[in-house]
Amino acid sequence: MSEKFLHIEKEEYNVLLHVLKQEFDYDFYEFSPNSFQRRILRFISKEKINVKSLINKLLSENGYLQYFINELTVNVTEFFRDPSMYFVLKNEIFPKWESFPTVHIWIAGCSTGEVVYSLAVLLYENNLLDKCVIYATDINQNNLNKVKEGKYPKALLSSYLNQHQYVTNTSNAHDYIQIDENTFTFNQNIKNKIIVAKHNLVNDESFNEFNLIICRNVFIYFEQKLQNRVLKLFHNSLKSNAYLILGKKENIDFSDCLPLYKTLHKKEKIYQKN
Ligand SMILES: C[S@@+](CC[C@H](N)C(=O)[O-])C[C@H]1O[C@@H](n2cnc3c(N)ncnc32)[C@H](O)[C@@H]1O
Repeated sequence: MSEKFLHIEKEEYNVLLHVLKQEFDYDFYEFSPNSFQRRILRFISKEKINVKSLINKLLSENGYLQYFINELTVNVTEFFRDPSMYFVLKNEIFPKWESFPTVHIWIAGCSTGEVVYSLAVLLYENNLLDKCVIYATDINQNNLNKVKEGKYPKALLSSYLNQHQYVTNTSNAHDYIQIDENTFTFNQNIKNKIIVAKHNLVNDESFNEFNLIICRNVFIYFEQKLQNRVLKLFHNSLKSNAYLILGKKENIDFSDCLPLYKTLHKKEKIYQKN
């Protein structure tokens, strides 16, 4: 049956959420129900199963849970997406790090790594990459494997170069990427600065103290209560005066964390911990 005509009964949706939480410690209760249910419908229609057999498979088939999670996440991303944000980062925040011995950066919900490599390249071009460690985390293991590989379809290259040029005014990328017939790959010296790890923002803890956390286009899938909890996690994970960057459509205005940050750049959603 077409996805358009499928729907999930409230009761079976609740059973699914309950099983995911109780059996696997994946808590989706505070994900925005509309978009989450749409993703489940897309999954069951593609797999040609119903919610009951989805639950059975989750409980009985080895590896099915990770497959389901990987299929469920929305992974849309882009190199230098919202280039004006990278422009502000480069011109207003990078100069502050010049005197720092080390810089720790966390990119949470990094998808397939386009944000990670955009930032790493910018740091490299500004002679800051050597002192940086970039932690790239996500709940989707397939995404993380792609970040580790650092290899992208060549079809993305011209948009990469355009966006990059907007931010830096240069179009030279041969210094740090290798271009092959169908792909382009970031050089090992860039990849060496990236630590890739699975981390679930819903229930995993903080794992370091950072100078910058970038979490863009992830909160849009979370209910406000969950956004608030993750903002607290970020606050605990930032050094004082360190920065938090959210996506264009996200903000902290509704949150009890608002007094804990200064709004450094309202349009680019750049905040600084007090
Ligand atoms: C739309 S992508 C955004 C990618 C990137 N941040 C960007 O702005 O281009 C959302 C990402 O958030 C990840 N994600 C969703 N829920 C998550 C959670 N609870 N913990 C960690 N990552 C999560 C998804 O797997 C996906 O890769």
